[in-house]
Amino acid sequence: MSLYRNTVWFIKGLREYTKGGYEAAAKHFCAGDLEVDVTGRHYMITGANSGIGKATALAIAKKGGTVHLVCRNSERAEEAKNEIISSSGNQNVVVHLLDMSNPRAIWEFAEKFKTENKLNVLINNAGCMVNKRELTDDGLEKNFATNTMGLYILTKALLPVLEKEDDARVVNVASGGMLVQKLNVSDLQFENGTFDGTMAYAQNKRQQVILTEQWAKSYPKIHFSVMHPGWADTPAVRSSMPDFYEKMKNRLRTEDQGADTVIWLSLSPASIKHPSGLFFQDRKPVSTHLPLASTQSSPGDEEKLLETLEELSQRFAPAACKL
Ligand SMILES: NC(=O)c1ccc[n+]([C@@H]2O[C@H](COP(=O)([O-])OP(=O)(O)OC[C@H]3O[C@@H](n4cnc5c(N)ncnc54)[C@H](OP(=O)(O)O)[C@@H]3O)[C@@H](O)[C@H]2O)c1
Repeated sequence: MSLYRNTVWFIKGLREYTKGGYEAAAKHFCAGDLEVDVTGRHYMITGANSGIGKATALAIAKKGGTVHLVCRNSERAEEAKNEIISSSGNQNVVVHLLDMSNPRAIWEFAEKFKTENKLNVLINNAGCMVNKRELTDDGLEKNFATNTMGLYILTKALLPVLEKEDDARVVNVASGGMLVQKLNVSDLQFENGTFDGTMAYAQNKRQQVILTEQWAKSYPKIHFSVMHPGWADTPAVRSSMPDFYEKMKNRLRTEDQGADTVIWLSLSPASIKHPSGLFFQDRKPVSTHLPLASTQSSPGDEEKLLETLEELSQRFAPAACKL
C-alpha cells in the first residue's frame, strides 16, 4: 500500500506541485482577489523569518496589515523584520521570540499576547522535518512537538481573541505529503518501529488536516483552512530533503509561489466564501485523500487524537489556563 501511495503521490506532485503546476493553476486565478486593504487588521505568522512564512508576512505588510512575526531566533527575526519594513514601507511589523517546540513557552506567550493585542488571522506556518528521532527538553519527539503540539496549543490559546473579531481566520500550512499517511493515533510520537523523519512529518501534517476539520466544526465564528504550498525552494527543503532537492531543484516553485495560497486564504474575501475546514492547493479546495489509498480515519481515531492532544497540552498549561 505504501509503495502505491508514494508512487501515485509523486506522479501527482510532478504534475501539480512543481513550478509548472503552479503556472498552469495560476492562469485561472482571479487577479482582483488580492486587491484588498487590510490596514488595522492583525496577522500572526509563525516561522516568519524565512521561506513561505516570510513571503506571506511581506505580502500582508504590503496590504497594510500589522504583522506579528513569531520566530525562535532573534537575529534571523530582526533581519526579516527590517527586510519586510523596507520592502513594504509598513512599520507595523512586530517580532515575538518563541520556540514552537516548547509547549510551556507557547502557553505563556499566548496569555501575554492576548492581554496586549487583538488578532484577526493566525497563520500556523512554522514547521520542521527532523530526520533522527530527537526529544525536546520536555521529552516530546521534535517533529510532533513543533508541527502538531505547538500548533495545537498556540491555536487553542488564541481562540478567545480570534473569536472577538469579525472575519477571524486560522490558516494552517500543512503539506501534500500527508496524503501518503493514514492517521496513526496509537503512536503519535513514533516510539515504535524504525523512525522515519519523512513519515513522522507526513503524520504530523495529516494531524493538522484533521485538527482543521474538527476545529471548523467546533468554532463556527472562525474560518479555518489548511493548505499545501506545493514544492517550493526554501531552506527547509534544502536542509531536510537534500536528495529530493538535488533531483527537483530546477522544477521547484519560488517562495512567493509556495506562499500564494497562504496569502489568498489569509487576505481575500473570496477564500472565505468556501466552507470552513477545507484543504487547499493553488486557491482551490482539494481532496484530503488519494484515490483508493485507504487513508480515511475513523471518527473514533479522530476523537482520540483531539483527546490526547488536549490532555498533553494541559500538562504544560499554566494554572490560569488549566481546565
Ligand atoms: N517548501 C515546501 O516545498 C513545502 C512543502 C510542503 C509544506 N511546507 C511547509 O511550509 C512551512 C514553511 O516551511 P518553508 O518551506 O518555508 O521552510 P523554511 O523557510 O525553512 O521555514 C520554516 C520556518 O519555520 C521555523 N521553525 C521551525 N521550527 C521552529 C520552532 N521550533 N520554533 C519556531 N519556528 C520554527 C523556521 O525557523 P528557523 O529559521 O529558526 O529555522 C522557519 O522560519 C512548513 O510548515 C513546511 O512544512 C513546505
